[in-house]
Amino acid sequence: MSERVIKVGLCGFGVVGQGVFNYLRSRQDLLSDRIGARLEVSRIAVRDTKKKRDFDYDESMLTTDPLSIATDPEVDVVCELMGGTGVALDVSIAALEAGKILVTANKALLCDHGEAVFAAAKRGGGQLFFEASVAGGIPVIKALKDSLVVNRFSSIYGILNGTSNYILTRMTNEGATYQEILTEAKALGYAEADESLDVDGIDAAHKAVVLAYLAHGRWVPFKDLLVEGVSEVTQDDIQFAKDNGYAVKLLAVIDVAHASGKLYISILPTLVSKKTSLGSVDGVFNAVSIHGDVVGETVYIGPGAGRDATASSVIADIVDGAKLLVNGGAETFVDPAPRGGDAIELAEPEEIESRYYVRLQVLDKPGVMAEVASLLASHKVSLASVTQKEVGEGAESATLIVTTHMTNEKAILDSVKSLAESPSVTAKPFCMPISGIEK
Ligand SMILES: NC(=O)c1ccc[n+]([C@@H]2O[C@H](COP(=O)([O-])OP(=O)(O)OC[C@H]3O[C@@H](n4cnc5c(N)ncnc54)[C@H](OP(=O)(O)O)[C@@H]3O)[C@@H](O)[C@H]2O)c1
Repeated sequence: MSERVIKVGLCGFGVVGQGVFNYLRSRQDLLSDRIGARLEVSRIAVRDTKKKRDFDYDESMLTTDPLSIATDPEVDVVCELMGGTGVALDVSIAALEAGKILVTANKALLCDHGEAVFAAAKRGGGQLFFEASVAGGIPVIKALKDSLVVNRFSSIYGILNGTSNYILTRMTNEGATYQEILTEAKALGYAEADESLDVDGIDAAHKAVVLAYLAHGRWVPFKDLLVEGVSEVTQDDIQFAKDNGYAVKLLAVIDVAHASGKLYISILPTLVSKKTSLGSVDGVFNAVSIHGDVVGETVYIGPGAGRDATASSVIADIVDGAKLLVNGGAETFVDPAPRGGDAIELAEPEEIESRYYVRLQVLDKPGVMAEVASLLASHKVSLASVTQKEVGEGAESATLIVTTHMTNEKAILDSVKSLAESPSVTAKPFCMPISGIEK
């Protein structure tokens, strides 16, 4: 019997698309042995057909119309690897409404339009796979939606942006400034020309929204997350972390508050204990720690981006889709949304508790420390420690670092706002949570 051929259409032939193309071709026999069908790229959509690519390919496959691939009856699996939320949305919806297998690596798309994309799959009978959308090569989506399906998830912590982690790691190891490392990272291609998606926490937030959906069945709008990036982290913060057994990490937190059972999502620079699994994940690596009430903690660490790592996940999804076609299977997706029940509520800032670190630049004059302490006390925030760096004779301002006992997010945000308005504080205060992760 001749082997079934499954036709794959690549919408996007950039970093990820070409990686997928390369391994679908070079591992074609291996994949065919494993799934009992031959995977063939039959069409490719790009913006610029004249651009030089890194691999040889048959130019007759090219089109500048990705929608024509999404609706092509000859294409079985559509891979949306273009990025963005415009054409990518149209392509995804069209493919799913046409009942096709859609594979996407696009976290921005899922974060902003997840509900619409899943609805299109339901309407059209298409199947959606998105392993590469979170943590690149790490199979964390599969873990959450399949392998850990019996669990309730009290907390998920993630280092979800490799560029930010790379910058923080080098700041820690080399004592360089944020700006110095960023400039070099851009030159080496580790950071995009427009770095804001990475360093402002936006990319990590998109991924956190996807994880939260899988864990709790609710698409949380981006505007409801607390998101800050790493651009304001200085050597003072890094040094404090080192001196006290922490690392500064851009940490995504998807937590269910103990008392209220409400959901909280934030992406913030955070002091993470070096003793925890996440505290020692360095460089461009990503890591996700998932706390399930049945299994306990499971931790996933690996390359979160890059051509090959991302292609590995995209191809895993293509294979899952192909297996459905080969075996005639239907729906595989375990819908995380509570059936008939109410969606999990979002926690208010008053309900979110943590310890905090605050760095202040203050006038070097008597009474300032007392003023800071009393201002924090007025918001019911109590100090756990105060450190002032030694200043030279005649210096006008000094760096003051305070840590707090447990308090709530509203109290600390109000405190920082009041501190910023104080005439004794000479620069914008910097604040980050001290993570309570213990393992
Ligand atoms: N790069 C990574 O490590 C990584 C990791 C995980 C997930 N992702 C996600 O994977 C997706 C692709 O990322 P990437 O890094 O591969 O991007 P990329 O290198 O910029 O490639 C994008 C590709 O899409 C094509 N494209 C864009 N808009 C198009 C349009 N309107 N019509 C036709 N073709 C269009 C581009 O064509 P031209 O080549 O002609 O410009 C290009 O081939 C994104 O959603 C990204 O977030 C990337």
